[in-house]
Amino acid sequence: MKAITVIPGKSLHAQVVDVDEPDTSTHSLLVAGHVLGVCGTDTEIVSGLHGAAPPGRDRLILGHESLGEVLDAPAGSGFSPGDRVVGIVRRPDPEPCESCASGEWDFCRNGRYTEHGIKELDGFGCQLWRIEPDHAVSVPAELGDLGVLTEPTSVAAKAWEQIEHMSARASYTPGTVLVTGAGPIGLLAALIGVQRGYEVHVLDRVESGPKPAVVEQLGATYHSTDVGDLTIRPDIVIDTTAAAEVVMTLPLLVAENGVICLTGFPLTQSNVSMNLDEVSREMVLNNVVMFGSVNANRRHFGQAVDTLSRAEPAWLQRLITRTVNMDHFDEALHKEDHDIKTIVDLRW
Ligand code: BGC
Repeated sequence: MKAITVIPGKSLHAQVVDVDEPDTSTHSLLVAGHVLGVCGTDTEIVSGLHGAAPPGRDRLILGHESLGEVLDAPAGSGFSPGDRVVGIVRRPDPEPCESCASGEWDFCRNGRYTEHGIKELDGFGCQLWRIEPDHAVSVPAELGDLGVLTEPTSVAAKAWEQIEHMSARASYTPGTVLVTGAGPIGLLAALIGVQRGYEVHVLDRVESGPKPAVVEQLGATYHSTDVGDLTIRPDIVIDTTAAAEVVMTLPLLVAENGVICLTGFPLTQSNVSMNLDEVSREMVLNNVVMFGSVNANRRHFGQAVDTLSRAEPAWLQRLITRTVNMDHFDEALHKEDHDIKTIVDLRW
């Protein structure tokens, strides 16, 4: 079968190659890959900046934003042939640590977790893949290929869950949300905010292309000014840019008792300097929380399916701006103007 493979740590070695079909000996679902979402993490792995191959191998099958159809399911697994499924990305560490032992591998304490398509476990960028039933998430067939948005939505759902935990520390009701970056995670985080009744603002650099209209259609407000020129004072900020010049401004922008969640992680270094005295003074005097959020556990995947099922399918469809066939996978890695989410069709 065909698989999209990379050599982690080496740049530009992504290749679609023939690999053996997945091992049949495990108690797992056999899934026909339908589509695969491509995100910044994949580009970083292909550039040699992130990721690790399975032990004893050079190549890793890429892909962590999955959607496929069950071909074969063990008896008693709760799945049947024809079901649409998405694979959970992270697997608990072998120890396991306290967090992993309680199903919160997204809070793994020792870094020995593995991740499909990213860290030491093959991903879902192939025609057939296997997944243990307890790491598969059922997706309604009515979502069609939009089910591929489940994984990025799970990351946004986890961020929201943490934000709401932190907002609950003070007796006030946050109302205004700013999302910085109108990429897929930003737009899906905005969707969750709108669904929960917040007043949502989205900031991005671009002034043209689909993003402004996609944000307005959601019932949110689009801004393309510099972050420092914004006149709103959000209670909650979700940053997806990982841009130092944006991130360092957020503690000064957020309202009293504000919560800032960082979801992007820079792998390269920028040379932006900041006035840390001013930032720490504002954070202390205003009770500001700034924290990072990564990955998602099973509960967040469930929340993601719920979010997508309640969203307008035509709006979700606007997030998928390009589909490429598996044999042209490399085209998915190059961002074109106005791309939001590019997906790869694995149905060869
Ligand atoms: C994935 C997460 C993963 C993170 C770090 C993200 O792109 O969505 O599941 O934990 O990369 O590897």
